[in-house]
Amino acid sequence: MWFICLDRSISVIKRIQEMEIKILSYYIHLINKCMVVAIVSLIFATTSSFAGITGSVHDFSTQGWSAGRICTVCHTPHNASQTIAAAPLWNHKVTTATYTLYTSPTMDETTVQPLGISKLCLSCHDGTLAVDSFGDQTGSTFISGEANIGTDLSNDHPISVSWTHQTIVGFGPQCTNCHDQIGEDPSKFVLPFYKYAGGPAKIECSSCHDPHNNGPPNEKLLRMSNNGSALCLTCHNR
Ligand code: HEC
Ligand code: HEC
Ligand code: HEC
Ligand code: HEC
Ligand code: HEC
Repeated sequence: MWFICLDRSISVIKRIQEMEIKILSYYIHLINKCMVVAIVSLIFATTSSFAGITGSVHDFSTQGWSAGRICTVCHTPHNASQTIAAAPLWNHKVTTATYTLYTSPTMDETTVQPLGISKLCLSCHDGTLAVDSFGDQTGSTFISGEANIGTDLSNDHPISVSWTHQTIVGFGPQCTNCHDQIGEDPSKFVLPFYKYAGGPAKIECSSCHDPHNNGPPNEKLLRMSNNGSALCLTCHNR
């Protein structure tokens, strides 16, 4: 049903003259900007400013093995690891684990072994590699507690799953949760999507989480607050 709607909306959009598309996207853009301004003022009125990585759970600069640096554990300006295509100047050892995947009879997509961007996270969070295994050094401090997701992902929200609009029902304002303008770069959305070699947009760990803690404070490094399940409702309008 949804696919029919998307198909229709695409052909409708195609039939509109170029000028009208421009006007339409301009209005979507305007409405969105107003909403963003309103939301931003609300956030600044109700909470303190966004935190950043310094002092966050991902700031290991106080650990003896980090030489007082923050970024080096994950990134390096030179001689970066090229194991994962498109990894941002990666310095941490990369996991080689094979994962038990999430499966479900009610899901449209089939899950695949985690792809690049999520493997960066799993290089610490699956518990197979030490947190301090970066650069040339092999460390011995392993992740523990709830932060250790393990190699069994069958009890976790699916990742590396394609976004085919399967979780959005109907055509309406829920579309502008992501689309500011038609044809925008999905890696720049509030919840970013990741593309590999021109393939479909995928959801990865960092679609929901910002490893640099630039989302609201005290929300498990989430990119947006999950108050009232706002994060979930961005993609699942149920
Ligand atoms: C705990 C690991 C970790 C630490 C520490 C870390 N990063 Fe990252 N960084 C990542 C991951 C994973 C990605 C890829 C996911 C993404 O794009 O959000 C990334 C992406 C980036 C990117 C490219 C995408 C973007 O968000 O612009 C930049 C630039 C970056 N990091 C800079 C830094 C700097 C500067 C520091 C130190 C102040 C730092 N990072 C510390 C894990 C880390
Ligand atoms: C970035 C978009 C996105 C966000 C954010 C998101 N989801 Fe999902 N979720 C998906 C996609 C895509 C699937 C796969 C659906 C499919 O293929 O049928 C999925 C799958 C699921 C499933 C499994 C459905 C099944 O049929 O087994 C559940 C349950 C779920 N999500 C709940 C949540 C909850 C709860 C949150 C908030 C913590 C959340 N999702 C946040 C996109 C998202
Ligand atoms: C260099 C290793 C490393 C990498 C890479 C890494 N993390 Fe972490 N992360 C940690 C450690 C260690 C903790 C736990 C700190 C603690 O609880 O003391 C943590 C904690 C977290 C938490 C819990 C936040 C909280 O407030 O409790 C989340 C969420 C998280 N990481 C997500 C990610 C995501 C998503 C990525 C990839 C984009 C990532 N991490 C990459 C080491 C890493
Ligand atoms: C959770 C974020 C999200 C929501 C909500 C969303 N989209 Fe999208 N949409 C995307 C992403 C990501 C792409 C790029 C997909 C790809 O390239 O694989 C996309 C692509 C599209 C495209 C193809 C043209 C383009 O911009 O690349 C159309 C048309 C579209 N969406 C329409 C809609 C409609 C209609 C709705 C509301 C029913 C909607 N979208 C809601 C994320 C979203
Ligand atoms: C669809 C959104 C979504 C995706 C994708 C996602 N997470 Fe999370 N994650 C959350 C939410 C929401 C929470 C907060 C749960 C809570 O507070 O109860 C969370 C919590 C966490 C925590 C804190 C410990 C815990 O279990 O509560 C860690 C660590 C974490 N995520 C790591 C990851 C890693 C690593 C990946 C990729 C393998 C990932 N997340 C993918 C939404 C997501």
